Amino acid sequence: MEKFIVKGGNRLEGEVSISGAKNAVVGLIPATVLAGDTCIIENLPHIADVLHLSEILNNMGIKSEFIDKHTLKVESGMKPHSDPQYDLVNKIRASYYFIGALLAKYKRAEVALPGGCNFGGRPIDQHIKGFEALGAKVVIEHGVVKASADKLIGANIYMDVVSVGATINVMLAATMAEGTTVIENAAREPHVVDVANFLNSIGANIKGAGTDEIKIEGVSELGGSTYAAIPDQIEAGTYMVAAAMTEGDVTIKNVIPKHLESITSKLREMGVSVEEAGDSVRVYGERPYKAINVKTLPYPGFPTDMQPQMLTLLSTAEGNSIVRESVFDNRFQYLTELIRFGANVSAEGKVAVVNGTTDLTGAEVKCTDLRGGVSMILMGLNSKGETKVSDIRHVDRGYENIVSKLRGLGADITRIEE
Ligand code: UD1
Repeated sequence: MEKFIVKGGNRLEGEVSISGAKNAVVGLIPATVLAGDTCIIENLPHIADVLHLSEILNNMGIKSEFIDKHTLKVESGMKPHSDPQYDLVNKIRASYYFIGALLAKYKRAEVALPGGCNFGGRPIDQHIKGFEALGAKVVIEHGVVKASADKLIGANIYMDVVSVGATINVMLAATMAEGTTVIENAAREPHVVDVANFLNSIGANIKGAGTDEIKIEGVSELGGSTYAAIPDQIEAGTYMVAAAMTEGDVTIKNVIPKHLESITSKLREMGVSVEEAGDSVRVYGERPYKAINVKTLPYPGFPTDMQPQMLTLLSTAEGNSIVRESVFDNRFQYLTELIRFGANVSAEGKVAVVNGTTDLTGAEVKCTDLRGGVSMILMGLNSKGETKVSDIRHVDRGYENIVSKLRGLGADITRIEE
């Protein structure tokens, strides 16, 4: 089993370049199913979820191959001969996008319920509500979502909750429906916009992505395109926190500063310096940091995917902070691990109380999920002595070359086989 060994105390300095956005590309790759011609997706992060999605396409009979580590060529015109394979679908949350894409193009999809991080119940009722509104019949049998339709017809769909997954999935399904679909109370995340931009690049007619009302005029045929994914907002935010955590000075390159605004503003509130310049941000700081309150919200609010990293930083600030998780029911599982370092943190329901301390010592910890897992590394960077992190497959799902990127900034981190 692979583990990370982190020796704390090094200040991070220098430059790091951010990879393509995981949550965008996990939508872009299934979306290629809709295309009528070859698609080339560039700026892909080289992470486990991307490799799995490419494998799912190949197993379905849609040829996909990496031209290089970051570029995938998909022969999108090919008709799939089988359904997405259960044991791969089961590993990734975003595999549910195959339902929307296959339903749109072939009027039929059978995809096992998705995997991904466990934050309590993660229902897909809004996805199903959207497919049904477009005229599909959807049943769940033996853990498999079975959706079919004679034809899909545009509809007005109001999302009861702001959901990234449901917005993208229904957008995929509506792309080739007859007539107009309007998604109201849509998610506004940058990755929703990225998937819409890709779909438009192959001939779809989608307007309003990035607002809470998305309008889709169905088209009967789509072509192919070459499309580059946006940079990863959460990877960037994680390195911003890493810089602050180690009282370092790091320039984070290849970012869209606008996407980082909520993170930047919270770091500044703590007393961390953030300077924006073109497509990079420079982050530096010195303790003591101020305790602050954070509440996660859909974009443009503070992202739930940055909650563990931010709370970890706050656990080293001066005073008490309150962190409210308002997106997921159960996203504080990693706190049990943070406590092993000596952090004073506790949670009740969706609220965590953090009492800052700088008296932290390295510990043996495990990753409970992707962002909770990366927070173990962040904590290790700032703790005295050695930290051993297990269950690192979670981190590998979302962070490209995390060891070499951190080492490039001066961190003492290695990956070992134990
Ligand atoms: C996506 C991201 C994930 C991020 C999350 C919130 C991907 C692959 N994953 O997950 O990293 O943490 O957005 O930004 O992009 N909900 C329902 N019914 C539904 C769908 C969602 O009740 O049909 C609820 C969820 O339980 C949750 C909230 O809506 O409480 C938001 O979830 P959603 O935005 O859908 O998250 P995901 O798409 O699963």
